[in-house]
Amino acid sequence: MKILVLNGPNLNMLGIREPDIYGAQTYDNLIALITSHCEKKGIEVNCLQSNHEGDLVDYIQQAYFDKVDGIVINPGAYTHTSVALLDALKAVSIPAVEVHISKVNEREAFRQISYVSYYCSKTITGKGFDGYIEAIDFLADGAK
Ligand code: DQA
Repeated sequence: MKILVLNGPNLNMLGIREPDIYGAQTYDNLIALITSHCEKKGIEVNCLQSNHEGDLVDYIQQAYFDKVDGIVINPGAYTHTSVALLDALKAVSIPAVEVHISKVNEREAFRQISYVSYYCSKTITGKGFDGYIEAIDFLADGAK
């Protein structure tokens, strides 16, 4: 079982960025949590982050050639703008779960649209870092 965890713009700034919304833990803390969980479960995981939309499209496309079984994606602000990320997910046809650290549904109106949600089989919001773990487990259980 191979999983790609993809984080979009500004998620590298976790811990610094609006801690009242995103918490005090850093991006490195997030990756440590994911890595140790996947190690325990025997899941091969690759965690990537980019501030650039095209890089994220490239990473999704590469997942197809790397025979990745599932994608966990937090597209950050590109959630609300990017048809390109939606199309990339549709192109590779790999099961995917959308994660948001914050409660996006209780925030500004412009955050209420998610393009990737048209593809993702599940959306997890407002559970902090635990949302990534829930998404990984959902994909791992589904692929068994
Ligand atoms: C986010 C929510 C988005 O609206 C925001 O642009 C982010 C992070 C979240 O994890 O809660 O960058 O995806």
